[in-house]
Amino acid sequence: MLTEAERHEIEEEIAAVREHTRAAVVEALKVVQRRRGWVSDDDLGDVATCLGLTRTEVDAVATFYNKIFRRQVGRHVLLICDSVTCWIMGYHDLLEHLRAKWGMELGETTADNRFTLLPVACLGLCEQAPAMLLDGELYGNLTPARLDEILATHA
Ligand code: FES
Repeated sequence: MLTEAERHEIEEEIAAVREHTRAAVVEALKVVQRRRGWVSDDDLGDVATCLGLTRTEVDAVATFYNKIFRRQVGRHVLLICDSVTCWIMGYHDLLEHLRAKWGMELGETTADNRFTLLPVACLGLCEQAPAMLLDGELYGNLTPARLDEILATHA
């Protein structure tokens, strides 16, 4: 029979392994997203099975990590910075321009499936505010005209 000390030590080892597995969740979800564009409920369940975690544990990570998309997205994903410095430096003008000229609404995908527009917390590019992340690439010093130039290259 295991002693109390042995049992305690084993439980600590198991906890450490589970922590490591949780750290792998984000990477596993990124693999799925890179290949499929987003992570469906079925995909999430498969990742949970693969890692030996519950759906709830994987879903908690997916929900916390806002760059994992749990709904189908367009061909290009535009994450617009929705934080204080960008508000001051022109965020609202950009949002209005995206709506009026490009038909984008926050949280939505355009009818032609070209763009999905999502808000994101500070991108760490405040000195070049307003900023966005488009398909994983950072852009700063945005103006409506600069937005047009950039978006025109994303068919
Ligand atoms: S507030 Fe927008 S990049 Fe920091």
